[in-house]
Amino acid sequence: MADGLTDVLADKKALARRRAYEAPLATLNPAWASAFRDDAHWPYFERLRAEDPVHWTPDSNYGAFWSVTKFNDIMAIDTNHQVFSSAKGIGLSPKPGVLPPEAYRERETREGDVGDDANSFINMDPPGHDIQRKTVSPAVAPARLMEMGPVIRERAGLILDALPIGEPFDWVDLVSKELTTMTLATLFDFPFEERRKLTMWSDTMTTAPGHGPWTTYEERRQLLADCRAYFIRLWNERVNARPAGDLISMLAHGADTRGASMDQYFSNVTLLIIGGNDTTRNTISGSVFALNRYPGEYDKLRANPALVPSMVSETIRWQTPLAHMARVASQDFEFKGRRIREGDRVVMWYVSGNRDDEVIADPYNYIIDRPSPRHHLSFGFGIHRCVGNRLAELQLTIIWEEILKRFPEIRLLEEPRRSYSIFIKGYEQMQVVIPRRN
Ligand code: HEM
Repeated sequence: MADGLTDVLADKKALARRRAYEAPLATLNPAWASAFRDDAHWPYFERLRAEDPVHWTPDSNYGAFWSVTKFNDIMAIDTNHQVFSSAKGIGLSPKPGVLPPEAYRERETREGDVGDDANSFINMDPPGHDIQRKTVSPAVAPARLMEMGPVIRERAGLILDALPIGEPFDWVDLVSKELTTMTLATLFDFPFEERRKLTMWSDTMTTAPGHGPWTTYEERRQLLADCRAYFIRLWNERVNARPAGDLISMLAHGADTRGASMDQYFSNVTLLIIGGNDTTRNTISGSVFALNRYPGEYDKLRANPALVPSMVSETIRWQTPLAHMARVASQDFEFKGRRIREGDRVVMWYVSGNRDDEVIADPYNYIIDRPSPRHHLSFGFGIHRCVGNRLAELQLTIIWEEILKRFPEIRLLEEPRRSYSIFIKGYEQMQVVIPRRN
């Protein structure tokens, strides 16, 4: 699979390694979207885990922040919501002056101190968080997943049967986006023929200008206004209908959410769109990439399809579709000999913890039959642990069971194009060919 881009990436990775090790530790900053795009972020985290596992970056495009890079330390922060609050944003935001002024206007309403009235529950602490989470959890609870399984399987089959044979195509577009969008449309009971709107809105929310469906902030604002208007229309329809099992109906009728402002409702919709789309999509693409990178593992899988569930968990660890989550300290706190001050932002780099060899043996390698494959950080821990984790695993398991029934190989043709983001760790495009059917 060596191609021009692979060579360019090799040079960029070598340069990133030099930079990561030559930079003075006191000012080392691991948050570079370009490094994530070039798959060149690893040395920064390798160095931090070894030399400064709870690390202070005094200044960066995202301001000042702590980086927590080892598995057990990340778990300690993630499970301590009393000290590490989600209410002031759960990511790194560009500091003033880095983006054009219009970019901050929308951000202010999304991430500022707007109070719980306009926040989704991922951006809340207890008790508000727990109440809202309880309202939506039945939509992804085991009983509901049992019902959804056959629907997802049928749709996965339709997607795979329509793929071209012997001709190159973009796996991200034709499979990863399509399957996750279909599932999300099912969860929302969203008009099925318009489901690609969900993909477009999700991409609008998570991409940088020029890396998705928008280039100017005005375009972005308009797309998000369309999304909001569409979902408010669905709320109005469902609130006047009988309660049903879809997420919108659950929010519109739930005792604790039916009185929500439209800002808060839309924040929760946004959370579910992003949560349910990008992450699973990038794991589906990541599985194809990893199995091509590790052909011996692909052989193991073909020989023994019973390995699909553990391959799925290994892919979720290896890919780490969300590179980090952040918290803000609500009080001064002594942690691993460092003094975290009230108001400091603390980033839990899941992408690094999942490569910590004190907890995971041989962590850089993709091993589909490793013991305890679910022991990873990709879904977080504590009260915010991913509510959709079983649904994500279900989709991945089904698509691979169906792939193995149909195709002996999905062959990667060139280096994929990765996302330009320090948060979403994924793929914009991945050219593959399916040489033949079984
Ligand atoms: C492989 C796929 C997925 C990954 C890697 C992933 C990852 C995550 C992570 C890291 C968190 C935050 C955990 C923390 O702060 O401790 C989270 C929360 C969340 N995820 Fe997922 N997710 C995935 C799939 C999904 C799906 C399919 C849904 C759709 C239902 C979903 C919905 C959510 C929601 C609603 C939250 C907020 C939970 C809370 O704040 O209590 N996720 N996810």
